[in-house]
Amino acid sequence: VDPTLDLFEEINKLKKEKNAVILAHYYQEPDIQDIADYIGDSLGLAQEAEKTDADMIVFAGVHFMAETAKILNPTKKVVIPDFKAGCSLSDSCPPPLFQKFKEQHPDHVVVSYINCSAGIKALSDVIVTSSNARIIVDSFPKDQKIIFAPDKNLGAYINKVTGRDMLLWNGACMVHEIFSLEHITKLKQQHPNAKFIAHPECEEHILKMADFVGSTTGLLKYTIENEATEFIVATETGILHQMEKSSPDKKFIPAPPDNGCACNDCPHMKRNTLEKIYLCMKYETPDIIMDETLRLAAKKPIDRMLEISK
Ligand code: 13P
Ligand code: SF4
Repeated sequence: VDPTLDLFEEINKLKKEKNAVILAHYYQEPDIQDIADYIGDSLGLAQEAEKTDADMIVFAGVHFMAETAKILNPTKKVVIPDFKAGCSLSDSCPPPLFQKFKEQHPDHVVVSYINCSAGIKALSDVIVTSSNARIIVDSFPKDQKIIFAPDKNLGAYINKVTGRDMLLWNGACMVHEIFSLEHITKLKQQHPNAKFIAHPECEEHILKMADFVGSTTGLLKYTIENEATEFIVATETGILHQMEKSSPDKKFIPAPPDNGCACNDCPHMKRNTLEKIYLCMKYETPDIIMDETLRLAAKKPIDRMLEISK
């Protein structure tokens, strides 16, 4: 790409020319969030993708999110900036292995976190996100046996708050499972008035310390509505951009991981750049293509989730 190009201007031109909408997750880099038409958590992004009347959906997130958009709105072209932007959590649950696991527990219903492939969605009874998992799990009778996949941390958290004993698939997010208890404890001592907030993909010992646990949208709302002026934030650092924009007088401190880095970025989310957004819009590739049988099977449990979350 010509380095003299003003990418903001070019992307805005392409948006109009192609009747495109840019949907971005909170973990995207600040420039991408600033040019997006909608920024949200996984539930908000799915709802937005379903209702858009744009001709092209530019999905600035990871593959399973763009795939979900295509499942919900198949007549639209769904382009992604980088086809390699995957998800460790989604990868931890391959459909053939999961199918076997499911067959071993025929009396269980399958509740799957949206961070999974279409193949896993097609094997599920209902999909959840971190913002509606509790309500959806609660909608089943207390004695209903449930398999929860693929995130063992979110599953354990939902087990705790609902008093259930769901069977958990052994998957985890590479970003949320490396927060350091030791560093966070130190930070809390240094900032005694700060609220410590965490995403439910974090491990149990981290969630135990949290003043608030929520999805990315939930965390952002909490920082806007809570009167505290300092927050230690245990999730991917991209969310800090909207927190700082919404509350410029408050201080946001990213919770450190245990790998020596100061903050915690998702290597998949951060594959996307403004330049790649421009290129995928201009050339309309790479785009999501789906087998129709798989799409319909994966859509059923997502529709059920959207119906409950209306
Ligand atoms: P939410 O934005 O739905 O909280 O999900 C977080 C996440 O890890 C997405 O990959
Ligand atoms: Fe997947 Fe974790 Fe990255 Fe979200 S933050 S895309 S769950 S690896």
